Amino acid sequence: MYTSIKTLAAAIALPLVAALPLSQRTEAVFDSTKPFTLHTEVVNGTGAFNGQYLSSFHVGAGQSTIVGSKNSSIAVGWTLSDSILQQPLAISGAPAGFAYNLSLLEQAPFRSNAPIGYDYVDLSASGKATTGFYFNNATLAWSASNSTTAPDSFDGCFALCHVNGTSPYFSLGSQYQLLWKMSNATSTSSNCADVKLIGANIAA
Ligand SMILES: *[C@@H]1O[C@H](CO)[C@@H](O)[C@H](O)[C@H]1NC(C)=O
Ligand SMILES: *[C@@H]1O[C@H](CO)[C@@H](O)[C@H](O)[C@H]1NC(C)=O
Ligand SMILES: *[C@@H]1O[C@H](CO)[C@@H](O)[C@H](O)[C@H]1NC(C)=O
Ligand SMILES: *[C@@H]1O[C@H](CO)[C@@H](O)[C@H](O)[C@H]1NC(C)=O
Ligand SMILES: *[C@@H]1O[C@H](CO)[C@@H](O)[C@H](O)[C@H]1NC(C)=O
Ligand SMILES: *[C@@H]1O[C@H](CO)[C@@H](O)[C@H](O)[C@H]1NC(C)=O
Ligand SMILES: *[C@@H]1O[C@H](CO)[C@@H](O)[C@H](O)[C@H]1NC(C)=O
Repeated sequence: MYTSIKTLAAAIALPLVAALPLSQRTEAVFDSTKPFTLHTEVVNGTGAFNGQYLSSFHVGAGQSTIVGSKNSSIAVGWTLSDSILQQPLAISGAPAGFAYNLSLLEQAPFRSNAPIGYDYVDLSASGKATTGFYFNNATLAWSASNSTTAPDSFDGCFALCHVNGTSPYFSLGSQYQLLWKMSNATSTSSNCADVKLIGANIAA
């Protein structure tokens, strides 16, 4: 059987690294001033909602929403700028530094079976950017007192829901969609899990 040198080297190196005492491992410390991916960590719900990378799902010209994917290669590369989560984009003709902004809309996802009280997340060129985000180590956090643009009923809770499709591309079928949870939502739906969002820097 063919084993590449690379695979072999990795197989040898991994146990060695794992055997080092914690203090001698060079674990990268998360740096929110550098680009990062975000993935879910379930706070309340089943394991299927864990480790889903936030990925962009195109819904119209200059407009996307966020879905979960286990494939980190398609994860959005985020930056945090003035407490706004942004997806920097290189689009021909766009001004330098052009980015889509994350915006929480007080609006149910259209024609979705998401439970009541779980609202739409917009990533676009036109949305009113939601301010107030920061990090506690690698965990995304949000401060109401530092946010002038968040919906009143946002208290920092994100949820991942397994919905029956995402408008207008229902033909792609069901998806894990990132939604935000209204503070008065009273769901007991097994289709959703409250999640924390964990940052990991993108290797340069
Ligand atoms: C993950 O996404 C990349 C980039 O689109 C693709 O090349 C790769 O095949 C995907 N991996 C899996 C396991 O789907
Ligand atoms: C998803 O479910 C909702 C609520 O049951 C329904 O109104 C909608 O038509 C469904 N959408 C699709 C694409 O099946
Ligand atoms: C994103 O938000 C920033 C800060 O509010 C703003 O300057 C910029 O124009 C926004 N970008 C888009 C594409 O709307
Ligand atoms: C951040 O990480 C440090 C070192 O691991 C730990 O001592 C501290 O409690 C963490 N802070 C928070 C807010 O989790
Ligand atoms: C809130 O904003 C102030 C002023 O920009 C800043 O000093 C503080 O660290 C922010 N707090 C949080 C929790 O982000
Ligand atoms: C939750 O609050 C929103 C307004 O923020 C309101 O429209 C909605 O009816 C409330 N839902 C419940 C279940 O009280
Ligand atoms: C977890 O979710 C279940 C079902 O939605 C709910 O009954 C329970 O109160 C939640 N627990 C916590 C700690 O939020």
